[in-house]
Amino acid sequence: MQRNPSIIPVLVWLLPLAVQTGRLAAQTGDLGPPQAQARVDALLGRMTLEEKVGQLNQISPDSTTGPKQAVENADELIRNGSVGGMLNAVTARETNGLQREAVEGSRMHIPILFGLDVIHGFRTLFPIPLGLSASWDPALVGQTARYAAQEASSQGVRWVFSPMVDIARDPRWGRIAEGAGEDPYLGSAFARAYVRGYQGESLDNPTSVVACAKHFVGYGAAEGGRDYNTTEISERTLRGVYLPPFQAAVGDGVGTVMSAFNAINGVPASANAFTLTQVLRTEWGFRGFVDSDWTAVREVMLHGIADDERTAALRSFLAGVDMDMQSGIYLHNVAGLVRSGQVPMERLDESVRAILRIKVALGLFEHPYVGEAVVPDPAAAALGATLARKAAEESFVLLENRKFGGAPLLPLAASKGRRIALLGPLADSAEDMLGCWSCQAEPSDMVTLRSALSERAARQGMHLSFAPGTEVSGTSEAGFSKAMDAARNADVVVMALGESGHSSGEASSRSDINLPGNQEKLLEAVVGTGKPVVLVVFSGRPLSIAWASEHVPAVLMAWFPGTQAGPALVRTLFGDAEPAGRLTVSVPRSVGQVPIYYNHLNTGRPRVDPIGLGATKPDPYFVTGYIDQENTPLYPFGYGLTYTSFSYSPAHVSAATLSSKDINLGKARLAVSAEVRNTGNREGTETAQLYIRLRGTSVARPVRELKGFQRVHLAPGESRRLEFELGRDELAFWNADMKEAAEPGSLYVWVAPDSARGTPAKVELAE
Ligand code: NOJ
Repeated sequence: MQRNPSIIPVLVWLLPLAVQTGRLAAQTGDLGPPQAQARVDALLGRMTLEEKVGQLNQISPDSTTGPKQAVENADELIRNGSVGGMLNAVTARETNGLQREAVEGSRMHIPILFGLDVIHGFRTLFPIPLGLSASWDPALVGQTARYAAQEASSQGVRWVFSPMVDIARDPRWGRIAEGAGEDPYLGSAFARAYVRGYQGESLDNPTSVVACAKHFVGYGAAEGGRDYNTTEISERTLRGVYLPPFQAAVGDGVGTVMSAFNAINGVPASANAFTLTQVLRTEWGFRGFVDSDWTAVREVMLHGIADDERTAALRSFLAGVDMDMQSGIYLHNVAGLVRSGQVPMERLDESVRAILRIKVALGLFEHPYVGEAVVPDPAAAALGATLARKAAEESFVLLENRKFGGAPLLPLAASKGRRIALLGPLADSAEDMLGCWSCQAEPSDMVTLRSALSERAARQGMHLSFAPGTEVSGTSEAGFSKAMDAARNADVVVMALGESGHSSGEASSRSDINLPGNQEKLLEAVVGTGKPVVLVVFSGRPLSIAWASEHVPAVLMAWFPGTQAGPALVRTLFGDAEPAGRLTVSVPRSVGQVPIYYNHLNTGRPRVDPIGLGATKPDPYFVTGYIDQENTPLYPFGYGLTYTSFSYSPAHVSAATLSSKDINLGKARLAVSAEVRNTGNREGTETAQLYIRLRGTSVARPVRELKGFQRVHLAPGESRRLEFELGRDELAFWNADMKEAAEPGSLYVWVAPDSARGTPAKVELAE
């Protein structure tokens, strides 16, 4: 979504960037303090049936974020008490104006809850969420969410449609850009961080916004990676892979959940009583409200489980969707369904209560409006820029850094007189750097790689030449010769290649995941000059860059870094900042390997058994795989280089045997430790990853599962012993009886730099 310029008002409050860890269940999930509950009940007691239904209705003044579905009489609807929530109103003037209609013009004076797709920032943009996740730094990501909350709330937007916690194992799916990658454990850690950051210590702090965990559930499993497509997910996979990040968000008090577009095993997620009621409410105790995705209630008709709007409303509402985004179907049908007895009044009251509880918790009744007098606050803006730069630096993943002329090519030396050629269509493209869901960011806020590098070159007496060479998706070679000349006349070449900012995100799936257009051809030609080349890849998904991986000396995965793209990249290229990111998705060698993820099952005919198990050597022929491609990814989950190197001691475990019964009772835990040493000659940050594998259990378990991680900053030669613990939360899984429990068997434990390396310690899990 790209919107018109708006001015961010003064952020008069100081920025409490430290993210609070307090749980918000008391305000959202639980019934809230007795006075709040009494207030909700009192309101409810005075509302007509139609006014209650009005609270379930969410409208957008325009169709910027979904298929056209006109709402023409918004003002009238608001005054009638027929609007509970709105989305896509973005400026203080807009939200205040609409709010005035509701608070002063409607009989019940109930304020509107304004929501928006604040996905990786509001005006200040941080890296896309996939990039943010590569930081493996939930605390930092929580700070970005907090900052975004402050900017958004200053405009009256008190509800963000974030975090997207969909697990994604298919890079063709454009929305992989919006989440935290392929792993449920890591995804859960980020889900918590976002919720805490957005919601803060208390929702009634005017700078807090209520978060929305989306898209419930399984949306990332879209067949063929095609957006909105059907999903087939076994209950075990649903519970073990797709649900955990949502459960983590609910556990930390997320106020709202968005129901997804996809059908799960034939039942649309937005009319799915099993996920929305059985799991979310009965098992997890969620007491916030569920918002449908854009027209998802209407779409249950297209899925084929309702022939008319009334049935669509009935199915979605009874399944557990409380608020209807933009289809207007609840507004026109729920009152009739209550009158006919098909929907019990208690069911309606339950939804209205949940919506009102959030409005009360946010303090909207006391403070429905925000200030419109705006003066940019330099202190806040500077903090935002610093945070955006730091987040971008932490998101970069160094994929290759080969020696060129005796030393690793990166970091570059900033020596006077050095000639740098900057090539590629993304080097100076402000708009693309923002990535998908750029919200209120303006390309004019952006610092591109070219502008930051020019500034650096001028400051340090280096010479910079620039040529885009080609377009992102173009096939014309008209720009090649200028780019080649620049390369030949340079000491070092930096190439900024990749996808356009809008090639990922919603409705942006690709059937191919190569560098688009003729960019690879340009890359091959430039590398052919023999000059040292640093490739900076911008994209919202892993790209299959097998050629580059083999032939380009240095490759840095930059994702879409946000407002501070240029300064973050330049600092990293010259070594003022270190690339400390690690992949949170596997990078395929080719699209044919998709879906590819590290935590897969072993099969009965593995090509290589990762821990050398099994009595026989794998047969060279009758094994799982392809005849024309390896099974392993180009770069595995967890992978990333730094400007230094690290070694790991063998993992030490506190016991050789542990009772699974005691684990289930919470009486036994395993301590795991390993020493990590910086063996290089620069300081650096390592992300140590704890993986497990279980064998001998009632159902097959993945070849590895992430169950812990720690970032550690070490000086050259310094070492640190890192301690982890494994207990019931880490060792239980959904077994053959669909119970979540630890079972007797063998446990293998790695503390390793990524999902493909390390040597495991073995522990026996007894009865
Ligand atoms: C559709 C998208 O799927 C969802 O993520 C977004 O929050 C809504 N539109 C609202 O814009």
